[in-house]
This record gives sequence, structure tokens and C-alpha cells, in this order.
Amino acid sequence: MCGIVAYIGPKDATAFLLEGLQRLEYRGYDSAGVAVTGKPGTLKVCKTKGRVADLAAAVPARFKGTTGIGHTRWATHGEPSDANAHPHLDNSERIAVVHNGIIENADALRDRLTAEGAVFRSETDTEVLAHLVAAHVGEGVELEDAVRAALGHVVGTYGIAVVDAAQPDRIVVARNGSPIVLGLGEKEMFVASDVAALVRYTRQVVHLEDGELATVRADGFTTFTEDARTVTRQPSTVDWEIASYDTAGYEHFLLKEIHEQPASVERTLSGRLDERFATAHLGGLNLDARELREIRRVKILGCGSAYYAGEMGAQLIEELARIPAHSEPASEFRYRNPVIEADTLYVAVSQSGETYDTLAAVQEIKRKGGRVLGVVNTVGSAIARECDGGIYLHAGPEISVASTKAFTSTVIAFALLALHFGRIHDLSPADGRRIVAGLKALPDQIREILAGEDKIAELAAEYAQSEGMMFIGRVRGFPVAREGAQKLKEISYVHAEAYPASELKHGPLALINPDLPTVALVPDDELLDKNLTTLGEIKARAGRVLAIAHRAPDAKLADHAILVPRSEPELDPLLLNIPLQLLAYHAAVALKRDVDKPRNLAKSVTVE
Ligand code: G6P
Repeated sequence: MCGIVAYIGPKDATAFLLEGLQRLEYRGYDSAGVAVTGKPGTLKVCKTKGRVADLAAAVPARFKGTTGIGHTRWATHGEPSDANAHPHLDNSERIAVVHNGIIENADALRDRLTAEGAVFRSETDTEVLAHLVAAHVGEGVELEDAVRAALGHVVGTYGIAVVDAAQPDRIVVARNGSPIVLGLGEKEMFVASDVAALVRYTRQVVHLEDGELATVRADGFTTFTEDARTVTRQPSTVDWEIASYDTAGYEHFLLKEIHEQPASVERTLSGRLDERFATAHLGGLNLDARELREIRRVKILGCGSAYYAGEMGAQLIEELARIPAHSEPASEFRYRNPVIEADTLYVAVSQSGETYDTLAAVQEIKRKGGRVLGVVNTVGSAIARECDGGIYLHAGPEISVASTKAFTSTVIAFALLALHFGRIHDLSPADGRRIVAGLKALPDQIREILAGEDKIAELAAEYAQSEGMMFIGRVRGFPVAREGAQKLKEISYVHAEAYPASELKHGPLALINPDLPTVALVPDDELLDKNLTTLGEIKARAGRVLAIAHRAPDAKLADHAILVPRSEPELDPLLLNIPLQLLAYHAAVALKRDVDKPRNLAKSVTVE
């Protein structure tokens, strides 16, 4: 999704802007642009539809300035085009603005500004900001005051960075619903919408709060509110490794992140398993045992893969703690006037911590007095800050659009929560020990599955040629099927549908034919016989079956099988999912897809 970068300091801004934009490419975008100033009165702009590499090629050699802003755009208002790319300028080409988010009253503002003489050159909502700021700057007016006054007319969400050719000694930024991070350097300052763009230059950052603005100069910054009250903000230190932002010799970030899972799972578990009491320590919950005992229900909210991870989490909580638990897309929940109950624990799941629908759901729950925990990967992100407590994943930055290691770590976090909950309720010490031992064994078991990658790659290349694929699983296996289907369709564009195995004969069996193979989750658990019966029904209709199983089913029931090591039954879904990540990855590679940046998708969806 849209990305912002900005620089002010003694060096040439353009180099940082281009490199920073490249670091944000993973979020998904369709056009990019930069604007720089330095000598008062000069403003240079270059923008183009396409990739950051296209922008770098289009930037003229003499495109230099010490103050600059850059942007990658993911189209919401108007098609991807050079004209709609940011930065946007006012008539006199003095003000340049980059913007993430959506200005809801853009049409009304556009009419008003047009009547006052503004000439619009794009279809974007952002351009109104450039004209609006220009309407407020004038002799002796500080840029920050003009921006503040302009934002007073705006309804919507934004993260913005603004430069004024007449005041090149500063960049003014503002945040309302879309992240802005300041990076502190030595006599230079950086700005970005995501720390990924900054970590090569500084680890000292300040996250702006909603409703805050900042004036950023080469030698420092000041933060203030919309009503011009100065606020003091202390920098925090980013602890993610710079190496996480490189592919480290892997062909794609996605493959690297799949292979990082033994280590990322260890980090999620680190310091959290208590063998003595056969439970989990979760320091950030901010809920003591007595408060936890009062919880009667758990409601989990997330979008995309986070929602499916939540489904696995709900299953774990019900099984281990015997508390009713349910996962729902945050994007639906927030629009249906949800009933918020005092004895329900709400859990928001988000890798990025920025997904707008999930953030809005959290805000709605809190407004109604509910208690929300966050299961979040990005420390200090908007959702993490909004929640009453939570569990950080410590999976490290996830760059590829499709979630793999963060998905797995989310399910681990839920296993820890379920264990903790369970041991406060009726989960026996023996069962607690069983789960603790099961969790500890996972990193090695994931290594074992990854060692079988070559065979999965071969199968993926074969199955990728089909017209579509069905994914089926029963009870614990169904969320695995849903995530497996999601992964395949989002990165390979092969149509995939997930169904509970039990529902197959109530409809989708009509689709089964040799060109629509089925991936079946067949763990060796109490439902094995039922699953094998379903495979028989598919084979009887000439369907092809790829089983993900603990034991290979009879050749009459499955054409191929990928075997995974056995965990505890409650934890099996975690391992059954790993081969499906590799299956989707290698199918996408076989079909020559843009694996890390699938078409039309974005890593964190910060708009409605
Ligand atoms: C987007 C991404 C998905 C991701 C979802 C939730 O739709 O394309 O891969 O699962 O957002 O993201 P989050 O950062 O909230 O986990």
C-alpha cells in the first residue's frame, strides 16, 4: 500500500528517497514519485506509473536538493498514471504533498478550490491538499501553520509530508489514521510511513500519534497538535535487524521468510514457556488470573491471513481452555454494530499493526468499553498502541505481501494464550506439559518439513497447471485449508476454494473432475476415518487428490502425499500449513508470477 519517505539534511535527498521507496516496494504499489527542493524557490518533481526502478531511470541527472519527499502509490482515486502519481502540486508549483489515506470530502473541497482558481491536474483526492495548503501560505506564514489550517478543512485519514519551495529548511508532516515515523540522524532527519525505509540510516525513531503534526528540520523536530499545542515525544529504538530487509541469497523474500520459520517460532516462544507449572508466561496481557477467569468468551478479529490464523487460535482456545472462541473478519465486524460484552475478551490480530479495518474494529470495541488484546508483529504500531495489552510475535519484519512466518507465529501466540488460559481453568498439568513439549519440538519439525522442499516443488509445478484447486479439511484442518487456498490464489492466481471436508457432498462435489484437484488435510487424528471416506468420494468422481498427512493414505485414495511430522493433535494445524506455503510458492514460481508483490494486493491495507 502507499508509502511515504522524506529527507532533510546536508546530503542529496534523491538518493535516500529512491532507496527508501525501494525498501517500501514490498507493500504493493503501482506508481512512484519524488519532489526535491533546496535553493529557495526551486522545486523539482519526477513521477511515473510503474516501478521505483522506472522512476530512478526517469530522474534527470541534475535532479538535486537537500529537502525532499517521495511516494509509492496504490490507486484508490483514479487509475495508476503519471498524472495521478504523487507528489501533487499547487498551481504555482510551490507546495508539494505526498499522502497516504483517503480524503473523504475531496469532491466538495475540489469544487470549492476550483471556484477559487485552482487548476486540478489529477483525479486524486490528494491534490486538494496541495491546493488547500497553497491557499493558506502567504507572506510570513510558516508552513506548519498553513498545513494545520488546511487540515482543519479536511475530513478523512491521512499521513502526509509537505514541502514548500519558499521554505526549504523544513518538511511538515501530519498523521491521522495512517502512520508517520520520524527517523533521527546526525544533523539529518528522515521520515517514512514504515520503519523499513529508515533502518539502514537510523534506529532512533518517533512514531507520530493520530492528530499530531511535526516540523522536521535537518537538526531536529518539533511535534504539536492540531490546535498548535507543542507535545514532547521521546525517540524509541528499533531493534529489527537490517539483514531482515534483504533476501539473503534467497530468490524471493517469501522463500526466505518460509525458511526463517524455525528461528522465528523460537523467538515467539522464547522466555514464554514455564515447564514447572506447565503453562505460558505472557507478560504483556495486563490481565491477572482473576480477571482472566471472568472471561466467558473470546472474539478474535483480523483480515486476510490474520483472520485465518485467528480461526486456528479460536480452535486452540476452545480445545485447551474450553472457553467459546470465534474469529471474524475485522472488516465485517466493524460495520455491523457489534454487541460488545464485558465478559468477552477481544483479540485483534495484525502482522503490520496498521490494517485500517482491524484498527477501526479495535477503536469501536474500546469506544463501547470492551477490552482488547493485540496479537501483533510490529512493535509500537497503531493497533499495538490502541490495545489494552497483548502478545508481540517477534517474528521479525515480514516483507513479502503473502504472510508466512507471521502467520505461523500468530498461531503460536494463540497456542501460548490458550495454554495460559487453559491452565487457569481446567487443563491438567499433564496436558499442559504435553502442549509445552509439543511447542518446543516445533522448530525442528518445521526444519524437517522444509527439508522436503524439492518434492513439494515438483508437485507444485504439476498441480499449478490445473484450472483450479479445492482445499479441504475437517474441524482443525479447515482453517488450514482456508489459509492454504488463500496463499495459492494470492501468489499464483490459480483459483482455489476451501471447504470443510464434511460439506463437500453438500455442493462442491459437483465440481470435482480431473482438472480440479483437491488438496486434503488428513492428520492422523480422531477424524481420520471420516477424512478417508471423503477422499474415496473424490476418487470415485475421477478427482485427483494431494494429501497432506501423517501417514500416506492408500494409493487408491490419494494420488500423492506430502508427509508431515506428528505434533500434539491441537498443534498439528501449524505443521500441516507449512507444506501449503511451499506448494503455493513453487506454484507461483512455476507460473512465473511476481511472488513477493502479487498483482492488485498490498502488504498492509491502510485504507477502508
Ligand atoms: C492484506 C495482505 C494480507 C494480510 C492482511 C492483514 O490483505 O495482503 O496478506 O494477511 O492484509 O494484514 P495484517 O498486517 O493486519 O496482518
